[in-house]
Amino acid sequence: MSGPHLHVLATGGTIAGRGGSPTRRDYRPGQIGIDEFLARIEPLALGARLTGGQVANIGSEDISYAVWARLHASASAALDDPAVDGLIITHGTDTAEETALLLDRTLPTSKPIVLVGAMRAADAVGSDGWRNFANAVQVARDPAAAGRGVLVVMGDLVHAARDVRKAITSGTGAFRSFPRGPVAAVTPTSLEWFADPWRVGAGALYPFPAAMPEVALIHCCAGLDGRIVALHRAAGAQGFVVAGFGEGTMPEPLRTALREAAAAGLPVVRATRVDEGLVDRAPDDDGDGFIAARALGPAKARILLQVLIAAGLRDPAVIQQALEAR
Ligand code: SIN
Repeated sequence: MSGPHLHVLATGGTIAGRGGSPTRRDYRPGQIGIDEFLARIEPLALGARLTGGQVANIGSEDISYAVWARLHASASAALDDPAVDGLIITHGTDTAEETALLLDRTLPTSKPIVLVGAMRAADAVGSDGWRNFANAVQVARDPAAAGRGVLVVMGDLVHAARDVRKAITSGTGAFRSFPRGPVAAVTPTSLEWFADPWRVGAGALYPFPAAMPEVALIHCCAGLDGRIVALHRAAGAQGFVVAGFGEGTMPEPLRTALREAAAAGLPVVRATRVDEGLVDRAPDDDGDGFIAARALGPAKARILLQVLIAAGLRDPAVIQQALEAR
């Protein structure tokens, strides 16, 4: 194969999944290894020289710090290699948004980095994995993909890591972006960017955590009180993200317990359990010592807070700024 050299790091997921029959529902993710995957891709003649490495072969519900650490190390080595023009990561869709944001904030963005998955197993009828992968190659081989952080390619669209989330449980159009929409449209033979690169400087924004600090995610429901906060504090939580009601509201007993946590120096981020929308700073946030998640959903706000705490950043004003950064 000729063309740009793209290195593919495989972690598993449905894109590497197999059910044994085109119509079987209970397929298993993470069944196809990187060598077989690349051998099956080769006849598609995608216009790039593809090499590969296997980081894991799991369903992404089992993603862990250990896998992230291996992935980050392999990705860094590939990006440091002058012979490599771009990086593709194959990944399950269930936690794609968390891995994408973690890498987005901790890898340099001087070369294209694309994370891609699939909603249908590789041997399922109408499998989307091969097309998504061909689209990922189309993006990663374009030098204009650099300077945009980690990009997520799904369903003929390109999403920015900060904005993307899995919004629908099944079907090939499962991913959405908020507050910006997708940043490009892609097919195996075309790519149209909707915006200029937005990352200033090519370096990583934060170091990759040497260990993941414990950050509790509390999902609000009617009548929830503050005992859950005490339990998490006793278990060693170093920060909190609340998936609150509406624009990040919460029952008063929970608020009181979290205000005490914030006063003790534990960062507290208000996000929302609602599907989409901003959680802006509220009049009480200054007095409470709380931080507003803005456009980040709870899972991504948690990952970013873990990265920030690991980097020694605990000041609510500094964390607020970090949550707002593109
Ligand atoms: C997974 O996240 O590994 C399974 C689901 C998927 O990839 O779509």
